[in-house]
Amino acid sequence: MAELLTEICGTKLRNPTILAAGILGVTSATLERAANSGAGAVTTKSIGPIRREGHPNPVVVETPCGLLNAVGLSCPSPEESIEELKKTIKELDIPVIASFYAHSELEFGNLAERISGVKPHLLEANISCPNVENDFGMAIGTDAEASSRITAEIKSMTDIPLIVKLTPNVTDIREIARAVEDAGADAIAVINTYGPGMAINAETGRPVLSNMFGGLSGPAIKPIALRCVYELYDEVGIPLIGIGGIQTGKDMAEMLMAGASACGIGTAIMNRGVEVFSEICRELEEFMDEHGYSRVRDIVGLAHR
Ligand code: FUM
Repeated sequence: MAELLTEICGTKLRNPTILAAGILGVTSATLERAANSGAGAVTTKSIGPIRREGHPNPVVVETPCGLLNAVGLSCPSPEESIEELKKTIKELDIPVIASFYAHSELEFGNLAERISGVKPHLLEANISCPNVENDFGMAIGTDAEASSRITAEIKSMTDIPLIVKLTPNVTDIREIARAVEDAGADAIAVINTYGPGMAINAETGRPVLSNMFGGLSGPAIKPIALRCVYELYDEVGIPLIGIGGIQTGKDMAEMLMAGASACGIGTAIMNRGVEVFSEICRELEEFMDEHGYSRVRDIVGLAHR
């Protein structure tokens, strides 16, 4: 039977599936559900510098090949979020990744320091949300200089390994990846949602999402995620977490072959339920057994031969 162990920045994962940020990630109870369903690691919903309501409903709509979401980075106060994170770390026996966002260098650094106090295994800086005002989210992640400054500031405030989550909505993702690697990022997560896009209800003649536009996830963006991981595997020397449209063990094998060391799972939970983690692991194991691969590292980057 193939061995699914993998590693991100010295943190060992029992398998390469990671609950992606934003889904089931607000409370320790929901994060525990993902862990009990077989996830190799879990990521919290992004913790923000102040409580934020986000956009009014509807914030999610299903499209033929994926989901559009515009939640708007809603979050409880940082005190509440960090308390919940502390509880999660205590209760789970798998790595916990703390996702967070802020508006400025200083705010990112301060929040990273506060979150680091409860010792998550890894931090994930969200500089790539497409659904917020123009002074944060994707506005940072589309600017190499801002991405670099924020990464450097976070690194100066914490010793916990830092993943930076990038947006695909740029002309050249390699430029942003190089900037965050040079500024000290320990790993890169690619990709956040694509777009934004929109859905219109033909009956009402109105946009479906209250925010009108939302980020696209799911199978529709898998080819884009694969291309980004493939390009970055050649460009940077730090580990990659591949996210975007992974629904099956075979999808995951492809993402590992592109160069990811582990993969985020999000929209697949909507389609296959929370059991998707153990199902993807079983499917990946079967695929590896059938093809004679014994370890995850045997297929990471294989498509680059
Ligand atoms: O709208 C949202 O909360 C999405 C966040 C993200 O894509 O990072």
